Amino acid sequence: MADVIAEVMDIDSSDELRNPIKGKQKIVASSEPKSVPWVEKYRPQSLADVAAHRDIVDTIDRLTSENKLPHLLLYGPPGTGKTSTILAVARKLYGAQFHNMILELNASDDRGIDVVRQQIQDFASTQSFSFGVKSPVKLVLLDEADAMTKDAQFALRRVIEKYTKNTRFALICNQVNKIIPALQSRCTRFRFAPLDASHVTERLKHVISAEGLNVDDTGLTALVRLSNGDMRKALNILQSTHMASPHITEEAVYLCSGNPMPKDIEQISYWLLNESFATGFSKISDIKMRKGLALVDIVREVTMFIFRIKMPSDVRVHLINDLADIEYRLSFACNDKLQLGSLLSTFTRARAAIVAAANFHCPLLDAAAVAVAIA
Ligand SMILES: Nc1ncnc2c1ncn2[C@@H]1O[C@H](COP(=O)(O)OP(=O)(O)O)[C@@H](O)[C@H]1O
Ligand SMILES: [Mg+2]
Repeated sequence: MADVIAEVMDIDSSDELRNPIKGKQKIVASSEPKSVPWVEKYRPQSLADVAAHRDIVDTIDRLTSENKLPHLLLYGPPGTGKTSTILAVARKLYGAQFHNMILELNASDDRGIDVVRQQIQDFASTQSFSFGVKSPVKLVLLDEADAMTKDAQFALRRVIEKYTKNTRFALICNQVNKIIPALQSRCTRFRFAPLDASHVTERLKHVISAEGLNVDDTGLTALVRLSNGDMRKALNILQSTHMASPHITEEAVYLCSGNPMPKDIEQISYWLLNESFATGFSKISDIKMRKGLALVDIVREVTMFIFRIKMPSDVRVHLINDLADIEYRLSFACNDKLQLGSLLSTFTRARAAIVAAANFHCPLLDAAAVAVAIA
């Protein structure tokens, strides 16, 4: 029975917490494991499974074991294990009685002031007697709390204090500055940083071997690079690439996620630094069309490339500033062609500045030679 409940918890914690009957029906649906997204299938079950954040997880683990859990505020970028950590704490505290002892509300639920006054207060104010539960305190989990209205947060302040005896609150959010200071000071704060590459790699390897996937080293590196420390993103890209091609290579990963390949970015940067305006424009337009690249992705990656190559620092400063402006304008859906023109103009200006700087030190160098040397 415990196994069955654990399985239900894997599938959709939020729904079945609110409605255990509905949750149990899901056991049938989950009998085909293929339909379960990997992010849920491989959600860490216990605190020991949570990768990275060892200090935070060990502290929370100790507090849970000693029954000294404070109100918690976990914040940080998405896909770093905040929700998983709290669900693992709940599992540890309540075992099979999980769904009686926790109230989970996330951004898809209404969490205005009425809900705080009614639902949360009702849950927090009732005593609960569940057999076999180690901890008598209940848990209110407010996921994505930064989306709660200010009024609701103010109302929550009082509720938190009033029911501290038998209820703990766990707030989870991405941006901590959207939580009012009064709530922040009532909670113990933990910041979940993006996962570092080694932890993402390790966790991906675990999933790859469990699923028996054919992933080569370049594919794994590409997954880690594209995830940027977001484990949910890494698993989602892995699963969709697996659907698209049986052999997961760097190219398959980039194609599937729609990101430009590093070698395309090198090529584009070379054109920007060496070709004339007209040739550069037509070559970049062509590769964009052929490979279905978005200009905003090109600008972002070219900027990263500029960080890596050598050039006079005052030229680099202006160039990066201009690239940031182009990215800003593209986020407002400005005309792609005009922005591509702007990208080429920016580089034309930068090249002139590089030549001027080079001539200052060594008058014989010409523009192309300098640019090639830089690339
Ligand atoms: N630290 C981690 N260790 C292992 N898996 C993780 C970790 N962080 C995220 N994941 C994976 O990403 C998915 C989303 O994690 P979640 O805890 O919901 O992230 P958050 O709440 O921080 O956005 C999980 O199901 C799990 O598969
Ligand atoms: Mg979450």
